Amino acid sequence: MNLRTRRTRLVLGVCAAGALALGITACGGDDDKSSTGESAGGAKKIALLLPESKTTRYDQQDKPLFEAKVKELCPDCSVEYSNADQDAQKQLTQAEAAIANKVNVMVLDPVDGKAAAAIVTKAKAANIPVISYDRLILDSEPDLYISFDNEKVGRLQGEALAKKLADDGNPKGPIIKINGSPTDNNATLFKKGSTEALTEAGVQIEAEYDTPDWSPDKAQTFMEQQITKFGKTGFKGVYAANDGTGGGAIAAMKTAGVDVTKVPVTGQDAELAAIQRILAGEQFMTVYKAIKTEAESAAEAAVDLANGKTPSNATGKVNNGQIDVPSILLEPVAVTKDNVADTVVKDGFYTAAQICTGKFQAACTSAGIK
Ligand code: BGC
Repeated sequence: MNLRTRRTRLVLGVCAAGALALGITACGGDDDKSSTGESAGGAKKIALLLPESKTTRYDQQDKPLFEAKVKELCPDCSVEYSNADQDAQKQLTQAEAAIANKVNVMVLDPVDGKAAAAIVTKAKAANIPVISYDRLILDSEPDLYISFDNEKVGRLQGEALAKKLADDGNPKGPIIKINGSPTDNNATLFKKGSTEALTEAGVQIEAEYDTPDWSPDKAQTFMEQQITKFGKTGFKGVYAANDGTGGGAIAAMKTAGVDVTKVPVTGQDAELAAIQRILAGEQFMTVYKAIKTEAESAAEAAVDLANGKTPSNATGKVNNGQIDVPSILLEPVAVTKDNVADTVVKDGFYTAAQICTGKFQAACTSAGIK
C-alpha cells in the first residue's frame, strides 16, 4: 500500500536542522519548564526498540541521546533497549518481552510498519502507550509519531541530484536508483519525493531497486549487476536512499574501476563515513537530520506518557491508515561539500577533529572546517 499521509503544517521544523539555515537558535527541548521535568518522579520503565545496526545512527546517536535526555528528565527512570537487527520477527519477540516486563511506555521504530501494528495492539491491551519513532507504524493506534518530513528528504535528494547532473552536462542522466526497504513507510516517502523531483527535472531512471532491510551489501550487489549490464560509463549518477546503500554503491563502483568522483551519489543520515566521502569527492550529497532533536523529543514524550500525561510537544497529525496520529515532523537539510561546516559541524553533530582525520585534513581545510 502506498500510504497517503495527510498532514497539517508543522511548526517544529524551526527547532530542527532547518533552523541552521535560518540562523534560529532558540528551540524548545532544552528548556525544561515543561510539565515533564517537574513531575518525572518514580521509577518508570521505558522500552526503546530500534530496527537495525548497520546504519550507524541507531547505536551512535538515537540510543545515547535518548538515554541521556531520559536520565536528565527522570533520574529514576530506566531505558530498556533492544535492537532488532533488521528482523521483524525478532522485534516482535523483543516487544513481547517488554510488555511482559510491564514497561510504562514503548518507543518503537518498526522494522516493518505494517507488521508492527500487532505490537501496538498488544501494548495497548496491556495499557502501555506507544510512540512511533522515526518510522510510522501503520493501521494501528500509536499515541505519537516523531520523525522528519520524509517526503521532503526524498525531494531534497532528487532535486540535488538533478541539479548536479545538469551542472555536469548530463541533465537526463540516466541514473541507477536504489531505494530503501519496502517494509519501511519512510522508504515509501523517500521514493515518492525523490521520484517526483527527478521526473519533474526529466532525469531518466534506467534501473531501480527496493533494497530489502536497507542492507548496504544488497545495494552493493545490485550496483555490481548494473555495472555489468550497462557498462562502466552507462550511467551518470546514482540515487541512493541513505548513506549505507550509497556506500554500497560506491564500493561496487570502486571495485569495478568506475571513477566515483565523476558519478554523483546521494545519501541520507550524515554518517561520519559519508561526510568524509563527500569531502573526498566520492559521494555528492547526504541529508542531515537533527537526530538529537528527534531523540530528545521522543524522550520528553516518553517520560510524559510513562507518568500518565499526554505529551505536549505534538505539532500536527499524520494519518496512518487507521487514525490521525499526533505528530512531530522535523526539517531535513541537504548537505554537500559546500555546507558541511555550516550544518553538521556548526550543529555539533560531529567535531572537526572527528571528521578531519589523516587523509581528510586537506579536504577539510578547503571546505573551511576547523
Ligand atoms: C531512517 C533512515 C535510515 C533508514 C535505514 C529510515 O527509516 O529514517 O535515517 O537510514 O531507515 O535504517
